[in-house]
Amino acid sequence: MRKLRTSTCVPRRGSWSLRRRWRGTVPPVGRTGNANVSKLVYGLDVGTTKIVAIAGRVDGRRPVEVLAMGEAPSYGLRRGVVVDREAATESVAEAIEACGGGKLRGGPVSVGIAGSHIRSLNTEVTLLNRSRNRLVTERFLKRLHAEARGADPDEDEEVLHVVPRSFVLDGTEGVRQPVGLAARRVTMRAHVVSGAISSIQNLLGAVEDCGVRVSRVVLEPLASAEACLSPDDRQMGTALLDIGGGTTDIAAFLRGSLAHTAVVPIGGESFSADVAYGLKLPFEDAERLKVRYGSALSDGVDDVAPVLLDDRHHSAKFISQILEYRAREVLEFARDSLDHARVRNSLPGGIVLTGGGSQLEGFGQLAEEILGMRARLAVPRRIKGDVKPVQKPQYSTAVGLLYFAAKNDDLRPKSKGAGAFDFGSIVAAVKGWFRVLPG
Ligand SMILES: Nc1ncnc2c1ncn2[C@@H]1O[C@H](COP(=O)(O)OP(=O)(O)OP(=O)(O)O)[C@@H](O)[C@H]1O
Ligand SMILES: [Mg+2]
Repeated sequence: MRKLRTSTCVPRRGSWSLRRRWRGTVPPVGRTGNANVSKLVYGLDVGTTKIVAIAGRVDGRRPVEVLAMGEAPSYGLRRGVVVDREAATESVAEAIEACGGGKLRGGPVSVGIAGSHIRSLNTEVTLLNRSRNRLVTERFLKRLHAEARGADPDEDEEVLHVVPRSFVLDGTEGVRQPVGLAARRVTMRAHVVSGAISSIQNLLGAVEDCGVRVSRVVLEPLASAEACLSPDDRQMGTALLDIGGGTTDIAAFLRGSLAHTAVVPIGGESFSADVAYGLKLPFEDAERLKVRYGSALSDGVDDVAPVLLDDRHHSAKFISQILEYRAREVLEFARDSLDHARVRNSLPGGIVLTGGGSQLEGFGQLAEEILGMRARLAVPRRIKGDVKPVQKPQYSTAVGLLYFAAKNDDLRPKSKGAGAFDFGSIVAAVKGWFRVLPG
């Protein structure tokens, strides 16, 4: 029988005990455009349960060095979207302070975005190359990107990412890097991710109210994938599942390129809410029971084993049955999403689970059963410095945001071929909406 410690108190909103801060000891770093000089990069993961502000250093070579991280409980968000701007702003400000404040305000900062307003699709655009020498240039590539952005217009949506998957040059399939090659007819196959303008505006509003200069908005599963998947994983064919508090985010990669993204509007909070409902307990108590004693595999739990919470006994079996029901639902959503995108049978790399919710006991095993592929848990990889505080699944998005910031900081030649990310016009589009406060 497992015993529950009863001493844990549930901290109140805004209390310091909920804030977490960690900083490595690092020498000062510069901010020049020289690839040999260190640069500071920042990320802000505005999650449903916690906000993480993170600062790192890049010097042109991977891995990114994580310098500082601040965390605060998240208020004012529901399933990844801002529902109370003031509360969200307060939470973001707390996380920024915990990370060392001022520097982050100097930005530029990459911000993660998720939520059920996110839409993604695979599209194909073709343009005729009318240049005399027939060579495909970077300018021509930009025209293809612009074309892909406008391929499925919706006036309430803004394109967040256009990720090239492959190119067809005069009928030759599978070209990954078209620049410098000759072709008259060029087709780009791309994965396009867009989000509701109002949701993006609300997120950026809450962040920029804190005096942060947002340089780019990144779909959260892409950030998590950046932190957790290796180039081999992507090449082999692997899907990532980030089980957060409010949403479960999916990103699947085939032959090195992004093939599918989706956001399932169920996360760990739904698991706890179910336990709270089933046991008639406050949410915080249900959360404690889930984290300490929950399992997604109820068959393995003793029928009569009780767990103790604040002098009350609860059935471990019943708790796990509730959790398994939810876990199955999330995983079936993920399976259907991968099936719908016709990628599930092309993932020899299996499924990589990350995000706080992936830590639920038995979740990996259940994922293998439902998705029909091998599953493994992942924490952020390829980071240096005092990495221990960061190597937890709930920090994958935050670390991935640093990779994105580094990637697009011109520290190394930008890949213009398949797999390169285009952050496009989102920043330009929202620039006029908010006042950018000085750092
Ligand atoms: N050991 C554990 N077992 C089960 N669930 C856990 C465990 N540890 C954390 N969680 C759950 O993980 C969730 C938080 O995960 P995470 O920090 O990745 O979410 P988030 O980034 O704030 O949310 P989102 O990405 O959906 O906006 C919570 O619901 C929490 O209960
Ligand atoms: Mg998250």
